[in-house]
Amino acid sequence: MEGLQDQFAAIESLMTDVKAFPVANAAELEQFRIKFLGTKNVLKDVFAEIKNVPNERKKEFGQKVNELKQLAEQRFAELELVYKNAGNTTTGNIDISMPVNTAAPGSRHPITLMKDELMAIFTKIGYTAIDGPEIEDDWHNFTALGMPEDHPARDMQDTFYVQVNPAVLLRTHTSNVQIRVMEELTKSGKQPPVRIVALGRTYRNETISARAHCTFHQIELLYIDEGVTFADMKQTLLYLAQELYGAQTKIRLRPSYFPFTEPSAEMDVSCFVCGGSGCAICKHTGWVEIGGCGMVDPVVLENCGIDSEKYTGFAFGFGLERMAILKYKINDIRLFTENDLRFLKQFEQL
Ligand code: PHE
Repeated sequence: MEGLQDQFAAIESLMTDVKAFPVANAAELEQFRIKFLGTKNVLKDVFAEIKNVPNERKKEFGQKVNELKQLAEQRFAELELVYKNAGNTTTGNIDISMPVNTAAPGSRHPITLMKDELMAIFTKIGYTAIDGPEIEDDWHNFTALGMPEDHPARDMQDTFYVQVNPAVLLRTHTSNVQIRVMEELTKSGKQPPVRIVALGRTYRNETISARAHCTFHQIELLYIDEGVTFADMKQTLLYLAQELYGAQTKIRLRPSYFPFTEPSAEMDVSCFVCGGSGCAICKHTGWVEIGGCGMVDPVVLENCGIDSEKYTGFAFGFGLERMAILKYKINDIRLFTENDLRFLKQFEQL
């Protein structure tokens, strides 16, 4: 009987061997085959034992031996799929030269690209990045910026109201951040310098078309200190234009109007497509418009508790979509919000 126990034990240990036999390449696969399935395989000894097993246990023993054989065959079949011909480009049923369906790596949205570029441009010359709310009250979006109720300039920015009385609205520009920053400063007993850059989403009740949208992004710059002049603003704008569109870029300022700056201007940059000689992008003028800027109106400073006799400053607010359209030569502002992969895939891969 003891001999029989040993034979059952031998089968068990062979099963363990089959499972544990290390195979990691075609040569080892062949070793496996020779050992467990070859003409002199190690299973043969236990097969040979069947005749010595007493009749009443023959069936049980036979089943065990078969199980062992099936195990060896099955493991071999599995390993063969992976390791047969390993080293060639095809291994068994797996063709490792076949193109793989990897997930698309994705790309960064052009507005994100603009945002990162602009933030880098200004933080490296000492501006602090700051956030403000997109849902705003009347004071911060309009009144403190020199646009009291019924001021005609409010017509320039058709507004989405979340609530009418008291007014809660979607900010029409990032200039609300100017007010919030200056208020916070003076509330904590401080005075300028203020040097901030704010970038974010803005909203206007506009009919959506290729050139206008109800939501877009702006970058706002505010610099207040003693003795800040129009020349400082001009130089900062030139720096921006050249960082963004290249060292050969020129700027020009056209007189304009904003209730919160005096004097106010619109900045144009020399057309970076034709270099100023005239093309379709610049409508043959040699210049493209970027956005509004100006010296902060003393009324705005006083509204925020800053001494306008002592301090002066400048601000500008430019649309990111506008800048991106020019930089990447995009012809329809709606593309920014439509998530069309054919559009998005054209931008830098991560
Ligand atoms: N807030 C203005 C707009 O959205 C732009 C601007 C900002 C102009 C700061 C001057 C100074 O049209």
